Amino acid sequence: MTAISSPINLFEYEQLAKNHLSRMAFDYYISGAGDEVTLRDNRAAFERVKLRPRMLVDVSQINLSTSVLGQPLQLPFLIAPMAFQCLAHPEGELATAMAAAFAGVGMVLSTLSTKSLEDVAEVGSKFDHPWQWFQLYIHKDRGLTRALVEKAYAAGYKALCLTVDAPVLGQRERDRHNQFTLPSGLHLANLVNISGLEIPYEQGESGLFTYFAQQLDPALTWRDLEWLQSLSPLPLVVKGILRSDDAVRAVEYGAKAIVVSNHGGRQLDSAIASLDALREIIPAVNGRAEVLVDGGIRRGIDILKALAIGAQAVLIGRPILWGLAVGGQTGVSHVISLLQNELNVAMALMGCSKLADVDSTFLHFQ
Ligand code: FNR
Ligand code: LAC
Repeated sequence: MTAISSPINLFEYEQLAKNHLSRMAFDYYISGAGDEVTLRDNRAAFERVKLRPRMLVDVSQINLSTSVLGQPLQLPFLIAPMAFQCLAHPEGELATAMAAAFAGVGMVLSTLSTKSLEDVAEVGSKFDHPWQWFQLYIHKDRGLTRALVEKAYAAGYKALCLTVDAPVLGQRERDRHNQFTLPSGLHLANLVNISGLEIPYEQGESGLFTYFAQQLDPALTWRDLEWLQSLSPLPLVVKGILRSDDAVRAVEYGAKAIVVSNHGGRQLDSAIASLDALREIIPAVNGRAEVLVDGGIRRGIDILKALAIGAQAVLIGRPILWGLAVGGQTGVSHVISLLQNELNVAMALMGCSKLADVDSTFLHFQ
């Protein structure tokens, strides 16, 4: 295969990024759990859905802007929360935040970031329209969770995104082989100062798996959502829902948005593809909350398929890390602009000039 030097799509970014990452970091980023059935099916689900384009529509002006929870977006996507971005580039989450703000897309910062939530918020605050959400992992130490929520609110994050699909970490076998841990100099920037927590090194095991087992609370239930919402006025987004009954419960417990997600195939292997789950969840939620989706979105047409099913917007995961590894902020900006260009072409060929035109009549299921 010829070496790629100027990637023109997100798959080529993945290939190129491999040369810019340590084995441990690349494996951690790319892995799914177990046999990676769900990881593959996330992609296959997008390929199964076909489109029914409409002809002779004026598409000379295409508008890709929308909003999520009342906050404007220039493009219908957010950057998914992803841990440890300094493994990809020394600027890590700061570079990602800068690229997101330049493009006018939202960013969700992971609890397990390697730059502090305050420093990341500071990047966003230099722009007119950017906004960021804070992704929350609830530790057994509830005082720690309270402190994180208070810090996120004070720093200006616009929502709390509670991840509910990780009571324990999925079994990612490459991380286990690599005895995954953070290299010296990288820290859990949000946690080290208030709690001294670090990712451990453990022989024969992924340090992250051990960290989850030791620190995160596997006893979390729906009732804890009430407690969480009492800690700040921030709207609650629940990430990691795959069934309509859970989606309805999330709404009943106060979620303003839901992210239909299987964590990029990294948690329960053989979990349903997120696009398939979205089809079940949209009618059940019935407009009572905004529904977002992530997992396997690599092309502009993938985004349009999710919106046609009824998602308000989507989250983009790994391709952002590939951009970050290849070129820091410039690389992330390029990944975003590739998706934007694909979206523009796809909208024109579908016969849609604005996102509100994209509806289920454009879909064909085999
Ligand atoms: C993640 N994801 C994730 N989710 C979350 O809620 N908190 C986190 O800290 C992380 N960390 C994380 C690290 C890495 C390296 C990856 C690849 C993913 C899951 C992420 O938010 C999202 O659900 C998936 O990545 C979406 O799938 P794609 O776009 O990567 O296929
Ligand atoms: C992951 C965790 C950190 O997927 O969410 O690696």
